Amino acid sequence: MSSSYTMSVLLLLLFVQMVIGAAPLNHFCSTTSGNFTPYSPYDQSLNKLLGNLHYKTPPNGFGMGSVGQYQAQTFGLSLCRGDVSSEDCMSCFVNASAEIHKRCPNNKAATIWYDQCLLKYSDSNFFGKIDDQGTFYLLNVNNVSDPNLLNLATKRLLSDLSNTAYADPKMYAAGVTDLEGPKKLYGLVQCSRDLSSGDCKSCLDDAISHLPSCCDGKEGGRVVGGSCNIRYETYPFINV
Ligand SMILES: *[C@@H]1O[C@H](CO)[C@@H](O)[C@H](O)[C@H]1NC(C)=O
Ligand SMILES: *[C@@H]1O[C@H](CO)[C@@H](O)[C@H](O)[C@H]1NC(C)=O
Repeated sequence: MSSSYTMSVLLLLLFVQMVIGAAPLNHFCSTTSGNFTPYSPYDQSLNKLLGNLHYKTPPNGFGMGSVGQYQAQTFGLSLCRGDVSSEDCMSCFVNASAEIHKRCPNNKAATIWYDQCLLKYSDSNFFGKIDDQGTFYLLNVNNVSDPNLLNLATKRLLSDLSNTAYADPKMYAAGVTDLEGPKKLYGLVQCSRDLSSGDCKSCLDDAISHLPSCCDGKEGGRVVGGSCNIRYETYPFINV
């Protein structure tokens, strides 16, 4: 194989990785909240809310707020992954607000998830409530050689991280533990900071309880919801 061929393949892989890295993981357009008309007062509130979140979120990775009154009132929040720089947080927020507009153009309530951030808004006040609407799983389909060992280690690591995260002001924790031999297991847990610490704990406990149905014996997995998410992998995926 010529080295320029190898180089092209590597560049192609890198490009695919960048494109995938920038794409949303998922989105949820709520049908129960109904739709709004373009240029209506609700639309104006939503634009103003997104403007507020745009400057509130990057400095500390979290922003929440409400704009408007009565039928035109909207509530929203945005959250960046705990290890993400404010530049990447800003870039993720900008992408999320453009993309949610395309995917859920007139929905009063919607959520969009990226690897590095989450953006959510609604016409009803959802602050402080555990949101498991639209919860989804992502997994690495490769099976590990010793599923029992991995399942146990995963549960232990993510439970330990949850105990740290719910008591932390950022409601985020990431860490690594040894598997057999040179292998390691990396984990991350995070709650949206509108939750109380008690609700953060129950959200994470619930997500961990999904592991057997989502990710039994798999090399990596995530349980992602509107209020919290957990992830484990056998390779380093976080900036620590
Ligand atoms: C935002 O989108 C641009 C263009 O698609 C992409 O290059 C960038 O990596 C994205 N940022 C994040 C944080 O996803
Ligand atoms: C993993 O194991 C399951 C159950 O034994 C099997 O159906 C599946 O094909 C395996 N996946 C891979 C990627 O080998």
